[in-house]
Amino acid sequence: MLETRFSVAPMMDWTDRHCRVFHRLMTRRARLYTEMLTTGAIIHGDRSRLLGFDPSEHPVALQLGGSEARDLATAAKIGEDFGYDEINLNVGCPSDRVKDGRFGACLMAEPALVAEGVAAMKRAVKIPVTVKCRIGIDDQDPELALDVLARGVVAAGADALIVHARKAWLNGLSPKENRDIPPLDYNRVYRLKAAMPGVPVIINGGIASLGEAKQHLAHVDGVMLGRAAYQEPWRLLNVDPEVFGEAAPHTTMKDVFEAMMPYIEDQLARGTRLHSMTRHFVGAFHAVPGARAFRRHLAENGVRAGAGVNVLRDAIALVEGRAVAPMAA
Ligand SMILES: Cc1cc2nc3c(=O)[nH]c(=O)nc-3n(C[C@H](O)[C@H](O)[C@H](O)COP(=O)(O)O)c2cc1C
Repeated sequence: MLETRFSVAPMMDWTDRHCRVFHRLMTRRARLYTEMLTTGAIIHGDRSRLLGFDPSEHPVALQLGGSEARDLATAAKIGEDFGYDEINLNVGCPSDRVKDGRFGACLMAEPALVAEGVAAMKRAVKIPVTVKCRIGIDDQDPELALDVLARGVVAAGADALIVHARKAWLNGLSPKENRDIPPLDYNRVYRLKAAMPGVPVIINGGIASLGEAKQHLAHVDGVMLGRAAYQEPWRLLNVDPEVFGEAAPHTTMKDVFEAMMPYIEDQLARGTRLHSMTRHFVGAFHAVPGARAFRRHLAENGVRAGAGVNVLRDAIALVEGRAVAPMAA
């Protein structure tokens, strides 16, 4: 059964394997997503570098970018064989590079092609196949465009839909602007759920806190947080208690870091640079004395060649007290 209630969004350059291990130490239940990987990279690239992940990350979904059914099926199968728990297709990313490659948000205009890709992936793998899309692009009517896309992929076998609740404007806005400027329309996503009650619908876009997340859960099956989860990771300490009614794996950020030390030491021994991991910790401490000193210490010392785990230990020592997550996460 696909647990849809809470997930951390796929974010290029952000949700790499180190970030996901960090997030997993704060919540056992959240679904975690990889950065988008193109079918071409998976089929022709260095698979163990691109797809390798730590067993602690489960449940973890691989996000694919592509539109060619045969390539999607091949890449999905490779992902399944690597042990991923879900394959997700990106139909929401607006970048130019992606547009030229005919994948991402521009596929909102090609629902039949997307459905064909989903059907091919469903034939190739046993794990769930999901689609992450927008409510529409450019001058599309979201009532129609989202409906047509959703019905097509569901008929093709998609196990859930994740909807970033705004349009992508493909002409004129940068990818970053496309995450903020087109207005959010949560009601459009609620209507999709009401029209397709049997299909898991996950809402994404602009959800800033767990309080907001819980309000959405009255209307849809799940919430996906992107920037709030990455930039303010302390919020994740409250996901298991507040969303699932279960104890969190760790109650303080200091405990999270202690639990992550063996992973960090192992990665350092394999040649991973400390900064590749500690760059994800910038927002770890919030509203506690020493949070700024922690960030500064990591920024100044974490990037040095040969920086070891003591840099992180020293940074943590600058934070006062036990640094419990604020309740109003
Ligand atoms: C740095 C960054 C990289 C992103 N990369 C991806 C990506 O690879 N695939 C994708 O589907 N969405 C990507 N997104 C979009 C997010 O998954 C999400 O849909 C968007 O940020 C809106 O959610 P939020 O307001 O909770 O951040 C990215 C967002 C950010 C901030």
